[in-house]
Amino acid sequence: MNGYLNESNFMMVEEGFTTRDLLENLLVELCQAGDQQAFFVADLGDIVKKHLQFLKALPRVKPFFPLKCNSSDGVIRLLAELGTGFACTNKAEIARVQSIGVPPDKIFYSSPCKQVAHIKYAASHGVQLMTFDNEVELSKVARSHPGARMLLGIAADSSPSAHPIMMFGTTLKSCRHLLETAKEQAVEVVGVSFHLGSRGLEPQAFAQAMAAAQLAFDMGTELGFQMHLLDIGGGFPGTEDTRARFKEMAAVINSALDLYFPDGCGVEIVARPGRYYVTSAFTLAATVTAREEVPMEQPGSDGGWDGGTIPAMCPTPPEPSPCSSPEEDSANKKSLVYHLSDGIYGAFSCLLFDTPCPTPQLPKRPCPDHPSHSSSLRGPLGHADDRLADGLDLPQLQVGDWLIFEDMGAYTVTTSPPGGPQPHITYAMSRMAWKAVQLFLGKPPQPEDDHESICTPLSCGWEMAESLCVTPVFAPAGII
Ligand SMILES: Cc1ncc(COP(=O)(O)O)c(C=O)c1O
Repeated sequence: MNGYLNESNFMMVEEGFTTRDLLENLLVELCQAGDQQAFFVADLGDIVKKHLQFLKALPRVKPFFPLKCNSSDGVIRLLAELGTGFACTNKAEIARVQSIGVPPDKIFYSSPCKQVAHIKYAASHGVQLMTFDNEVELSKVARSHPGARMLLGIAADSSPSAHPIMMFGTTLKSCRHLLETAKEQAVEVVGVSFHLGSRGLEPQAFAQAMAAAQLAFDMGTELGFQMHLLDIGGGFPGTEDTRARFKEMAAVINSALDLYFPDGCGVEIVARPGRYYVTSAFTLAATVTAREEVPMEQPGSDGGWDGGTIPAMCPTPPEPSPCSSPEEDSANKKSLVYHLSDGIYGAFSCLLFDTPCPTPQLPKRPCPDHPSHSSSLRGPLGHADDRLADGLDLPQLQVGDWLIFEDMGAYTVTTSPPGGPQPHITYAMSRMAWKAVQLFLGKPPQPEDDHESICTPLSCGWEMAESLCVTPVFAPAGII
């Protein structure tokens, strides 16, 4: 074991008990305590499974998890334990992973735009691997970090799905000039990097990007650089229903690697999968803090509150749950706006990254004969632009009711939240997943371990721990 994660960092969930059961239990406890703060339950076993699937699908690619996607303690400890590297975009993120003991050779300072003070911090803390895609960035690094090893960022995606504000990388036309400038300034370039974006990424885009990367590699080699590292970025989908899509991407990547960077060519491959690892592992529970009824003709009207008095129809303390209010059953169809205990300036910040709001679920099944209403969700009162979802079909909710949102692991938990304290996170992992981690890291099963139970059911993916039981998973020192 690597010592980043131990049993005190999470709740061990026994067989037959799911993280959803755990969440429902927590809800009961919180309701009894009258606590209405939003909270997460994170299934670390889900992340273990994703890691094993990643290594199986992309055996030549070493993952560097982008911290900006989720910098929570349980996630970084688990991923460090599993041997992934980390992609950091600033000093705070570098400090965050180093605070748990991650060595500098597993840290990639991947931001294309870096503050000089942060470059100096990286230099003084041994972090060498960085990217650049313009002359200004190059000269900052030349002056502040002579030991840096740079990847040239190329803009490999011209598809309409590329997000304009995420655009990163230079054109192929500018590559030679930038590489020549690096040579003049004695900056060491060791490879090429691209990130194709995360919205509706077409698998074939990876093949095009790798063809472009190969041209950039050739230019670098001609100029005398030892080009040996290719970073293929992130953008891999992370929900259960996109598993086939991930496999499709992996198939395209593997064949493009065979074509442009075949095994044995001396080029190591890294990626920065963010949402892939964490999306499905996190479930958020948030409460309804206020409710407003709006005329049916204006579905999605936001009610226009700006932190003023809550309308009289939203009493606190909480009303009884929908199932115990039969008089409401006969209510006419109406359009309702609910304010929740968290919003886009907190746990729903993923909406700013073009992720749609997951459809909320109710802890208990609503009574089938209760009418549903067109409903909109908003963040806490006070921010008119804090819009989470419109046009949902929900039974009438009361102030104090809980809503559950699955697939909330990506871009919801950050190093420095803009909106104050983060929702509490309860980490859980099944005993079977924990045994799979140990097996994966080369710890032999204990005599009392039932070996059969580690590998069953076969469809769950834990059997991969055995077939991928290679220690260490990879040695980034060898890459850099
Ligand atoms: C440059 C860069 N790399 C990697 C990622 C990770 O993307 P994803 O979470 O879609 O894998 C992002 C996300 O914004 C990014 O901007």
